[in-house]
Amino acid sequence: MNTNINDRPDFTDITVLQNIANQFFKALPEDVPKEFSLDPTQHPKAQGIAEQFLGIFNASSIPNSIEKPSLGATTPSSLGGFGGSALSVSPVAGSNLDTTTHNLSPDSNKHYTSGIPNSVAGSGVSPSYLSQGNKFNTENPETSFHDENIGGNGKSSAHNTNQPDSDFNLLLLNEFSHLLDVDKLLSQIKITESKPQLPSFAEVSNPNGFYFLENSAYKQKIEYSSFGNLGELVQKDFPILNEQVNGKRLVWFDNAATTQKPQSVINRLSYFYEHENSNIHRAAHELAGRATDVYESAREKVRAFLGAKSVNEIIFVRGATEAINLVAQSWGNQHLQTGDEIIVSNLEHHANIVPWKRLADQKGLVLKIIPVNDDGELLLDEYAKLLSPKTKLVAVTQVSNALGTITPVQQIVAMAHSVGAKALIDGAQSVSHMTVNVQAIDADFFVFSGHKVFGPTGIGVLYGKEEILNATEPWQGGGNMIQDVTFEHIKYHNAPNRFEAGTGNIADAVGLGAAIDYISKIGMEVIGRYEHALLEYATNLLRPINGVKLIGTAKHKASVLSFTLKGYTNDEVGQALNKEGIAVRTGHHCAQPILRRLGVETTVRPSLAFYNTCEDVDRFIDVIKHLSIAKR
Ligand code: ALA
Repeated sequence: MNTNINDRPDFTDITVLQNIANQFFKALPEDVPKEFSLDPTQHPKAQGIAEQFLGIFNASSIPNSIEKPSLGATTPSSLGGFGGSALSVSPVAGSNLDTTTHNLSPDSNKHYTSGIPNSVAGSGVSPSYLSQGNKFNTENPETSFHDENIGGNGKSSAHNTNQPDSDFNLLLLNEFSHLLDVDKLLSQIKITESKPQLPSFAEVSNPNGFYFLENSAYKQKIEYSSFGNLGELVQKDFPILNEQVNGKRLVWFDNAATTQKPQSVINRLSYFYEHENSNIHRAAHELAGRATDVYESAREKVRAFLGAKSVNEIIFVRGATEAINLVAQSWGNQHLQTGDEIIVSNLEHHANIVPWKRLADQKGLVLKIIPVNDDGELLLDEYAKLLSPKTKLVAVTQVSNALGTITPVQQIVAMAHSVGAKALIDGAQSVSHMTVNVQAIDADFFVFSGHKVFGPTGIGVLYGKEEILNATEPWQGGGNMIQDVTFEHIKYHNAPNRFEAGTGNIADAVGLGAAIDYISKIGMEVIGRYEHALLEYATNLLRPINGVKLIGTAKHKASVLSFTLKGYTNDEVGQALNKEGIAVRTGHHCAQPILRRLGVETTVRPSLAFYNTCEDVDRFIDVIKHLSIAKR
């Protein structure tokens, strides 16, 4: 069915409405109760429904042609200063429609004017669900309703460039769209570092007063062109970065623990609760359609973000930790036998160790560890020696949360596959720093958390190859994941619903979709290259400070600068930074094995994101220098 707003069917024609109703019944999934799966060419309920809709249209006096929503002269171009557009439906001259401007859904550009069934209102089944449900042949748009939320008429491709635009646009992109030219951006970051003259110990009259914060000799000179500082530009989009902590502007260097949220994500969550909140995939009412649409639209955004083949490979979970536990307790429990081997690396976060260790203990499996060198790089020769036909799973991180090491995941996965093992990649620390394509990596499973990629907490993603997911028993049982239940027999849906028992985190999935929109508009390539320049800048300033020991010095690193400072506990360093409004994590970072391998129990761990700047780094370096001098 064509729902192009310029080519809208005549809703006052009973035969048109009946035809639409027939197509709707034809498109219902197989598991909808039998009364709905009669002859699809002439469904007995179609005529009654068509008559009902006709009554609604006549009562509302809605004309056949409805103007395409546009940023017309009377439409405000932004909402509340955050750069989101306020698309609106202009009332049609001569109609009886009330003349109030209606905001549109940020995800779908659809208008929720009463009486217009654009979410299949009253059916309880949304266009998105119909087009994405695994019962449907998404290659054939005739079998489902076209949904503006979904690029490519519900068809999936590795890189769908036909993503719907969110109304929540980036502030900066409206003004600085040329930032998308990476080389131009980077060439505009000019770092002219002056060698600071350190004052003598005697000059540090008040070691707790951060003497050289006032001493201009300690300032690193950084020159930006007016547009070149990506961090400074995007900071405007993150309200929390204006917070004052101890009288100073907050510097958020705890991005490996969690990232801050752009205004567009915050607004998207409010919008959901103000206009769309409902349970999904259920109920015969308009809001069920809206909520289902935006939830499934978020799934499509994740699919495109990861370069997955199909939306059926994207399962919403609570976070990376839950995703790994899901794989361990469903796939692992079902497919692994006593004596089978699992390989993890020495770099792993506890979330990619504990679920496998528990499973190994439960089932008599053997856990093997890929070692690292003193820089914190994986030793692939040693990994090769661990592989054998007994290896059933290799589970490795793409970026170490404690050290920042980037691992060669494509090679690791290929080596696992060469012995017939499956591979799981922990992307919790990678997705916010680099482009990820699960098909290029060829991972069987890939996990990440929404809150580490500028989205809300409590939402994350398990990607799994569709054939593997559908051959795996569900982890949890309940509503939403079954096709049919009797007291004798249960039939499950295929993925993704199979693994989404109960009511999930609907609003935060939608918020994650908004976060993906936000970073996709800047581009992961731009983000990655900007952050790399920032990491090099910070490393070059931190490394020479007297008493600093960098922990993790891999050639390929992202975001993280773990270190210790002689004469101080790591907590003391963290507290001194906090006094200056700078947030870092200190501790073992839930990665004790790798820290112990490198000879420490804990570190100080600044971790960067694209909203950080060289100026933030300078403030951080000033504090560390001060501490260093005070203990000389
Ligand atoms: N995994 C998070 C971190 O590295 C919490 O800090």
